[in-house]
Amino acid sequence: MRTKALILAAGQGTRMKSNELKVLHTVFGKALVEYPIEAAKYVGVEEVCIIIGHKAENIKAKLGEDMTYVLQKEQLGTGHAVMQAKEFIEDADEVLVLCGDTPLITGETLEKMLAFHRSENNALTVLSAIMDNPTGYGRIVRDENGHLLKIVEQKDANEEEKQIQEINGGMYVFNGKLLNEALSKITNDNVQNEYYLTDTIEILRNEGYLVDAVATEERDDITGVNSRTQLAAVTEIMKQRINTKHMANGVTLVDPNNTYICPEVVIGKDTIIEPGCMLEGKTVIGEGCRIGYNSKLKNTELKDNVEVEISVILDSFVDEGTHVGPFAYIRPNSHIGKNIKVGDFVEIKNANIGDGTKISHLTYVGDADVGSNVNFGCGTVVVNYDGQKKYRTSIGDNAFIGCNTNLVSPVTVEDNAYTAAGSTITATVPKNSLAIARAKQENKLEWVTKKCKK
Ligand code: UD1
Ligand code: CA
Repeated sequence: MRTKALILAAGQGTRMKSNELKVLHTVFGKALVEYPIEAAKYVGVEEVCIIIGHKAENIKAKLGEDMTYVLQKEQLGTGHAVMQAKEFIEDADEVLVLCGDTPLITGETLEKMLAFHRSENNALTVLSAIMDNPTGYGRIVRDENGHLLKIVEQKDANEEEKQIQEINGGMYVFNGKLLNEALSKITNDNVQNEYYLTDTIEILRNEGYLVDAVATEERDDITGVNSRTQLAAVTEIMKQRINTKHMANGVTLVDPNNTYICPEVVIGKDTIIEPGCMLEGKTVIGEGCRIGYNSKLKNTELKDNVEVEISVILDSFVDEGTHVGPFAYIRPNSHIGKNIKVGDFVEIKNANIGDGTKISHLTYVGDADVGSNVNFGCGTVVVNYDGQKKYRTSIGDNAFIGCNTNLVSPVTVEDNAYTAAGSTITATVPKNSLAIARAKQENKLEWVTKKCKK
């Protein structure tokens, strides 16, 4: 059985009032169009084809070369959109047709629709839902025996049809060969002068094929995004889904309404996430951690029992038992070891920090390799940039960096070495030694007294 998926994404999305294409707007860090693609892949489709039109290049740039793209030059309706993919459809036994603007669709819901389609031997199965307020959607019209007759768009519906609460979710599975045959027969004879994909229902039915609509209980799954208000509504639903899953897995979310966790994030049990946190990308958090309020972690791995307070950590790794913050900024490609203290107003970038090291306050460590049990005094700066190039600095185990030291890279402080407070270190500090690199203090006795007398 060869199953393929078509994603309709040629529309501009005028109601978004945006310079960006609607389906490239994001929910939890991913473009809207990526969600139906994932759901299709979940049910094992072999190939995905995106129907593109407006700003086609932007979609290609976002989704890459793995996909098949078909251009719909003019947007003459959903049926016209699917017609453009005639060749793609030709060799498919089943074709899923999805919309690029319905990010809440899940693989599970598609799986149920497919199972129904297969068990009933249908030529076409429509995913429907029963809505309290069906306004705006196409209505599912059934005969007295409950058989699917047709779908009527809001704009074409009569008063009686407008009362129907079962609506078209805009997702379908077709027999590939019959889809192409039916498409060749649709017309644009309707209020909008569009070629409606939904007209294939009557065509197939009249030729004696089985067509049906299956209502999903997951009504949220079919919610489309047409405006910024709907974008926010969809984000809200997705947030609740994600947060509910984490709480079921044993994660405490102090205020789940105010916690934003992207779909791919993994969190261990007994971890506590305080309000206002954003956990993004492929972040992985261990067990027993505490992520204090207003922290942001992106593509970051935290091992067990790590504490983060009001801090930002990007593309980095933090090992067990380490404490970060408050107000720390750990920038990409940093590897922070075990039981480390990264304190307030510390910035770390592209650096390796060994176990047990303390960087307690007001310090910048960029492009550096730091050993274990090093102590940084307050106000240390790794001077990694000369205006043109960046250089690395290396600090050995058990070193003690005095307050307000400048380490002018590239420079090495060997194991057990000390730097005196206020030093500007420009040459290697040998192991077990103390470097003092500052002007010696000179006291001018009674200098003030003499000055005042003048
Ligand atoms: C469509 C359905 C309606 C259903 C609703 C569900 C038809 C005729 N109507 O209506 O029954 O209730 O979806 O959300 O199918 N697109 C193209 N090319 C086009 C036109 C549309 O690619 O020429 C794409 C859009 O970018 C969008 C999708 O198809 O992703 C749906 O189009 P839209 O205009 O939003 O259809 P609706 O009027 O909402
Ligand atoms: Ca729509």
